[in-house]
Amino acid sequence: MNSYVTKKAGKYWPSKVMKKMAWVNSEKIYKDAAKNPVKFWGKLAQEGLTWEKPWESKNTYVQKLPYFWWFKGGKLNFCVNALDRHLDKNKTALIWVPEPVKEKIIKLTYRQLYDKVNKFANVLKKLGVKKGDRVAIYLPLIPEALISMLACTRIGAIHTVVFSAFSAEALKARIIDGDVRVLISADGYYRRGKKEDLSKKVSQAIKGTKIKKVVMVRRLSKKKNYSGKFTSFDKEVEKADSFCKPETMNSEDPLFILYTSGTTGKPKGVVHDTGGYATQAYYTTKWNFNLHEDDVMWCTADIGWITGHTYAFYGPLLTGNTTLIYEGAPDFPNPSRWWKIIEQNKVTVFYTAPTVIRMYMRFGDKYINKYKLKSLRILGTVGEPIDKEAWGWYFKKIGKSRCPILDTWWQTETGGTLINTLPGIGPFVPTIAGKSFPGTKHVILNKDKKQTKGKEVGFLVQLSPFAPGMLHGVWNNHKKYVETYWKKFKNKYDTSDGAYLDKGLIRITGRTDDVMKVAGHRLSTAELENAIDNHPSVNESAVVPVPDKIKGEIPIAFVVLEKGKPSQELEKQLKKQVDKEIGPTARPSKVFFVRNLPKTRSGKIMRRILKSILKQEEPKGVSTLVNPDSVEEIKKIVSQK
Ligand code: PRX
Repeated sequence: MNSYVTKKAGKYWPSKVMKKMAWVNSEKIYKDAAKNPVKFWGKLAQEGLTWEKPWESKNTYVQKLPYFWWFKGGKLNFCVNALDRHLDKNKTALIWVPEPVKEKIIKLTYRQLYDKVNKFANVLKKLGVKKGDRVAIYLPLIPEALISMLACTRIGAIHTVVFSAFSAEALKARIIDGDVRVLISADGYYRRGKKEDLSKKVSQAIKGTKIKKVVMVRRLSKKKNYSGKFTSFDKEVEKADSFCKPETMNSEDPLFILYTSGTTGKPKGVVHDTGGYATQAYYTTKWNFNLHEDDVMWCTADIGWITGHTYAFYGPLLTGNTTLIYEGAPDFPNPSRWWKIIEQNKVTVFYTAPTVIRMYMRFGDKYINKYKLKSLRILGTVGEPIDKEAWGWYFKKIGKSRCPILDTWWQTETGGTLINTLPGIGPFVPTIAGKSFPGTKHVILNKDKKQTKGKEVGFLVQLSPFAPGMLHGVWNNHKKYVETYWKKFKNKYDTSDGAYLDKGLIRITGRTDDVMKVAGHRLSTAELENAIDNHPSVNESAVVPVPDKIKGEIPIAFVVLEKGKPSQELEKQLKKQVDKEIGPTARPSKVFFVRNLPKTRSGKIMRRILKSILKQEEPKGVSTLVNPDSVEEIKKIVSQK
C-alpha cells in the first residue's frame, strides 16, 4: 500500500509517491509567487477558469482600500465553470449518502446535475428571481442544496445559505437583512434516526418578512401538497424547461452572502464575489487536496458554513472532481458510520473538524480498527486548533500513518484556505498550520504594530494584495466592514486571530476577540447575551467560553435577574431562549445566577475575570473594578456547583 508521508529528522514530509503526484511539489512556488502576486493570480485565473471575456491586465488587481477587486471587468458565469465545462467527462459529480441506512446512495453525474440545475434555474426565473436578487437557502445536506445554490449562480442571483439547525428567528433575521423574497427549504431531514422538522420553523420565520415564495423539498413525506406562498420543489422542476442560459457576470459581482458571527449581537453578511472567489476555491482545492481524476473528496462540513460552500461543493466541482456529502450524524447508527462511508465510496481525501476527531477518540478504537481505509491519501482539518493528541490519533487511526494531515487555517471572510502546508511540500507538524498560500502574505504584529520576534504571540494580519477569495464587504453595512477588519491595522486585514512563528511556520493560537468556537461553530458572546437578555426575567448577562475536551470550547452564562428567583426551571428556560433565537448549537452548557457582573468604572463587563474564575485561576485586575466584591460572590457561586 502506498505511503504518502515519510519521516525525516522527527518530522513528516511528503513521500516520493506524494511528491510525484502533487500538483505543486517545490518550495520555489512561494518565492516565485511572492515576486509578483498579482501576475501569479492573474495567470492562475486565466488557466483555471473559463472566462467569457478577459480583463485588461492593468485591472488584474485594483485596490481602493478598504475595497479591492480581482480581474475587474472580466466576465464569466460561475455555474458554467462548475458544471458546463465538465459535461464531456461522463463523471460523477456528487455522491449523496442519506442518513437512513436502508435508503439508497444517490450518485449524480455532471450531466445529471447540469440538467437538474438548469431546470431549477428556470423555476427560480419563473418565480421572478432576477440577477442580483437574494435567495435564501435553508436546507439540510441533500442534493437539492447543491442544485439550488448552483441554480442561483447560473442566473446571477445571490444565494444566502442558512444552517438548517439554526432557529426560525435566526433565519428570519437573515431574510430581513438580505431583503430576500424567495426561500428554498425542506420539510425536514434525518438526524440520529429522528425526523427533524423544518416546515414549522420556515412558517414562523417568514412571518413579517417580504418572502413571496417558498420552494419546499419533500425529504420526509412523499404526500404533502403545497399551496399559497409554498410550492413543491419537485413539481416545479417537473414543469420546467431543460435549458437555462447562463447569465454573464462581472468578476466582481457578488456570488453569495454568508452570515457569520462577529463581536456584536447581530451576525454580519459576508459578501463573496464571483471571479476572485472562484479562483481561490479552484486552486486551494486542487493544490491542497491534490485532486486528480480518480479522487473522491469528502468534506464533512454542512453547507451552512463556508467550509461546506467551498470544499464540500464548489472547489471539487470547479476542478471537475467528485464530491461526497452525508446527510446525517457521525455516530448513526453507530460510531463506525463515517469509516464505512469512506470504505464503501473509496474516499481519497477527507476533510473534517478537530471537534469530531476528538469525539471519535472518545468513542474508542473498536469502531475504527476493522476499517483499513486504504483509499485515503490526504487528511485535512479546519475550524479550530488541533492539539497534538487529536492530531496523532487522526494520523494513526484514520490515516494509518500513511497520509499527510493538512491543518488549514482560514475564515468565512477569506472564502478559501490561506495558511496550511501543501501536501507535496511539507512538513506536516502537529498544531502548526504552516505557510501562507502562494501569492498571499501574512505577518504577525505585536501591540505596537511591529512584527513579532521569536515565538512571541501577536495579531495575525494579511497584507496587500489581498487574496482573491477575500470578502467584498459586509452586506449593507460599510461601517461594520471597516470597523471589523480595517480599523486596528492601517491598510492591513485584521484576522482577529492570534498566532506565532515557529521556524518560519505559522501556529494559530485562537481568536483575539469575543468570538467562540463551539464544536467548530463560530458564535459570538454578544449574540448569546442578546438572546438571554431578551428573556423577561433577565436584567443583564455575560457569556464566556471555557475549554472543553470534545467541543474545544463551550459557552457558560452569568445572569443577573431583574425579577424572579434563580431556579433550575429558569436555567432551562434561558437555554430554551437561546435555542429559539439562535439554535441548539449555541446553547450555554451552564447558567450561573449572580447578583452583579464584574465591571470597570466605564461599565464594561470584565469577561476575562469570569473566565479566570471558571478556570479556577486567580483573576487579575480586580482592583480596577467598580464592584470588586462581585468577584468573591461569583467565586462562591461557581465553587458550589
Ligand atoms: O479562529 C480561527 C478558527 O476559525 C475562525 C474562523 O471561523 P469560521 O469563519 O467559522 O470559518 C471556519 C472554517 C474556515 C478563525 O478566525 N480557525 C479556522 N481554522 C483554524 C482555526 N483555528 C486554528 N487552526 C485552524 N486550522
